[in-house]
Amino acid sequence: MKTKIILDVDPGHDDAVAILLAAKHESLDLRGITVVAGNQVLEKTVQNTLNMCSMAEIDVPVYAGQASPLFRDQEVAANIHGESGLDGPQFPESTKQVEAQGAVDFIIEECLKYDKELVLIPTGPLTNIALALIKEPRIKKGIKEIVLMGGAYGLGNHTPSAEFNIYVDPEAAHVVFESGLPVTMVGLDLTHQAKAYPHVVERIKQINSPVAKVVVELLEFFGFTYERVFGFEAPPLHDVCAVAYVIDRSLIKTRKLPVVIDTNKGPCYGRTVCDFYGVTGKPANVDVALELDQDRFWDLLIETLQKY
Ligand code: BDR
Ligand code: CA
Repeated sequence: MKTKIILDVDPGHDDAVAILLAAKHESLDLRGITVVAGNQVLEKTVQNTLNMCSMAEIDVPVYAGQASPLFRDQEVAANIHGESGLDGPQFPESTKQVEAQGAVDFIIEECLKYDKELVLIPTGPLTNIALALIKEPRIKKGIKEIVLMGGAYGLGNHTPSAEFNIYVDPEAAHVVFESGLPVTMVGLDLTHQAKAYPHVVERIKQINSPVAKVVVELLEFFGFTYERVFGFEAPPLHDVCAVAYVIDRSLIKTRKLPVVIDTNKGPCYGRTVCDFYGVTGKPANVDVALELDQDRFWDLLIETLQKY
């Protein structure tokens, strides 16, 4: 049976590739794509989602969610993803429309239909997911688990302590991490093992399809900013890792740890504090991603892209 998923995104170059994987892999039943503000303002992340779906002929409903975090001011990552949030490729005019229903209400409605069946895959700030949990706590009954891209047990990327998705809305992350639901945190420690080196980009180029061409253009722009901002030799496809893990658990080694979000407004605001040594005595609440099987990860992505 296919795994029912909702993908919650803020495209974003890696979100855009995550959409392609989630929509085409035969083991997944993508019920809807919900969009949140993050890498860019909501208007732009929604348009980017519609552009990707239209370009790749993905027939899945798209829902617009929250335009700003629960409590704090919005922050975007234009330095990484450009002014549009998806700089690089030129998209033809989208033929796809956003749904009238809002993302939070869609998440609630969909979760209430099932009994521990739905997997939520958030790859942006956790505002939509947290708000759905706050507005209708009974949705927990429908959720099998949450596999999110965010956080780090090591270094942050938006501040020295915090990863971007968690930093943008730490209070929302707190709601999700303390929800009691099974949560897997696919953080930077893992996603930095998914760098799209030139030999990977070359394999995607070889597919020689319009969708593959867009992916290559996305990777070229993303590679350029990752080099400029972080000095990385290749751009990491963070968000794709979370989707890949839902498809194939053997791709990522995890360890269940006590994890809390720092919501104090100091230098560690938005940090995912992971207790490896059990010194807090707190119960382990989060499966933390540690190690990626890189070869099989790229094979999975490239085989799926070949289906477009
Ligand atoms: C995360 O932040 C965004 O820039 C990416 O899309 C990814 O979800 C990495 O920190
Ligand atoms: Ca993202």
